[in-house]
Amino acid sequence: MNEYRLAYDESIAHPDIFWGRVADSFTWKQRWSKVRSGDYHQVNYTWFDEAKLNITENCLDRHLLALGEQTAYIWEPNDPKEAVRHISYNDLHNMVCRLANGLSAMGVKKGDRVCIYMPMVPELAVSLLACARIGAIHSVVFGGFSAQAIADRVNDADCHWMITADGVYRGDKKLVLKSIVDEALERCPGVRNVVVLNHRNFDITMYPKRDIWWHDVIEHQSETHDAVAMDAEDPLFILYTSGSTGKPKGVLHTTAGYMVYAGYTFANVFQHQHDDIYWCTADIGWITGHSYMVYGPLLCGATSVLFEGVPSYPDWGRLWDVVDKHRVTIFYTAPTAIRALEAQGLEHFKGKSLSSLRVLGSVGEPINEEAWNWYHENVGHQRCPIVDTWWQTETGGILIAPLAGITPTKPSFATLPLPGVIPVLVDAQGNELLEKNAEGNLCIKQSWPGQARSVYGDHDRFISTYFATYKGLYFTGDGCRRDDDGYYRITGRVDDVINVSGHRIGTAEVENAIDEHENVYECAVVGIPHAIKGQCLFAFVACHHQPQNMTALSKEIHKLVSEKIGSFARPDYLCAVSGLPKTRSGKIMRRIIRKIAEGEPDKIGDITTLLNPEVVEEIKIKVAEVIKAPVS
Ligand code: WT7
Repeated sequence: MNEYRLAYDESIAHPDIFWGRVADSFTWKQRWSKVRSGDYHQVNYTWFDEAKLNITENCLDRHLLALGEQTAYIWEPNDPKEAVRHISYNDLHNMVCRLANGLSAMGVKKGDRVCIYMPMVPELAVSLLACARIGAIHSVVFGGFSAQAIADRVNDADCHWMITADGVYRGDKKLVLKSIVDEALERCPGVRNVVVLNHRNFDITMYPKRDIWWHDVIEHQSETHDAVAMDAEDPLFILYTSGSTGKPKGVLHTTAGYMVYAGYTFANVFQHQHDDIYWCTADIGWITGHSYMVYGPLLCGATSVLFEGVPSYPDWGRLWDVVDKHRVTIFYTAPTAIRALEAQGLEHFKGKSLSSLRVLGSVGEPINEEAWNWYHENVGHQRCPIVDTWWQTETGGILIAPLAGITPTKPSFATLPLPGVIPVLVDAQGNELLEKNAEGNLCIKQSWPGQARSVYGDHDRFISTYFATYKGLYFTGDGCRRDDDGYYRITGRVDDVINVSGHRIGTAEVENAIDEHENVYECAVVGIPHAIKGQCLFAFVACHHQPQNMTALSKEIHKLVSEKIGSFARPDYLCAVSGLPKTRSGKIMRRIIRKIAEGEPDKIGDITTLLNPEVVEEIKIKVAEVIKAPVS
């Protein structure tokens, strides 16, 4: 712990020395002239100016001499009866070089955007790395998004290329990814070619001019490739995430700072050792997968399990089977998975040893005390430290977390900031709360290397979203409590972002989808607590005609949300009302309907200033009915 304190103090007092030293452990084609430049007022911060590098040389080439034969990925298929794949660092390097050469031959160049929509197979990691190898900017879209959502993202980033697969089984569900892509690309005239991995031999349509099989792209390609020299601040990837407004933001990360931060945090938070077997259950389609399934572990020469399946297939003991089968030592998952397992009782632990585990991680949403204790007892057998890691798509890597086995933990606390991170709590007026024991909105005072640099194509939006609320601070959107020990406990979003099973959903996006229904003239979506998902969506609709059949309406609305976003964003509750409570200026009072939906109608406060206070009584009655008998 003393070592942490010393490192933290140095990182704040002398950030250039601290991060310069961390960066020295990586391979550079040209050294930086300056560690940090710019600030939060101009929103022009940069890291490692003038350095040149390629992140894939750091992930692959520099390990080959010592670790070439070591496994980079253990691929565990959806079906446990199917063969496991072991991919060594040599194999991965060769696969990345062949695809990099193949993509170059197709005409993909440095700076081009490539959209990736793939199942959890090693070729997904290879796709990200092949893009990075040639300097193309990858934009991964999680495999659960709909055709419309893919199209929106492809067009926003002006992607000319796509990489996908025929499809996948997740549990017993068959997903034909290629036909979803086909539907999406009807709306994307800019896409020239689609590379298609044949993963499951599904019967799909290949459009001759546009679609090319992966195996044809890499055929005859060399297993070596001269990695393109990237500038420190050249974009590495775009990853879309939801915010308060309807349109998802293409969060932009650049090369050098992201690399240094992903590698540093992976090594330190998990206290990764060379003989560890690391398993993160997140999909590569989210930031957790980018930073802690691909870049972080590979930068450290780690061996990772890449799991294609789901926790409940073929039964709820699957995760523990995988842990025992591969002797996993570090296990990193989300509270929603922990709570889902907890709800199944303890049967699924029967016959599972879990003795290989050394460190447990949690990410994506606040972990409640009960789930923390359950995880600690039943999975960690009270001997594995839990690292509750708080961070965001925008932060690139973990900002607040214990260091495994070093920082004393407390259930439901993400504990202390990592070196280089200065958290501050502010009140609604933006005053910094200086006392230790305080609760407020969480901001960060100073840039760290892994911080996002912009919203793709819209720097003004980047500034207004994160830097305009509190001058000179990065605003995270999270509420937070700090205790007498200086420990941080994240309480959840304070904006219109809802965290459903660790999926970040903007209420405005869901509202836009529901508004498409011909009978809906107005709607509002709020988040309410849910025992397993953390939060779930509660939708209120005001209709032109009183809906006759709520089950039918609910089905239609689910279909719309699935089409516009993806089925993970479907509301759990639907309530038809004659109107929504509004202020005199016409703003929907979400606070009021949220309180009612949360089952606390007595806590809505004063409603006399509303434009239409009469709707509130009706909403209370209707909500009580819906909660008793949800239609969806
Ligand atoms: C939001 C970011 C971090 C990668 C996965 C999610 C919530 C994340 C924690 C945690 C409490 C957490 C926050 C944050 N969150 N980790 N350990 N404790 N809340 O990335 O989709 O960008 O979502 O997830 O609300 O703002 P994301």
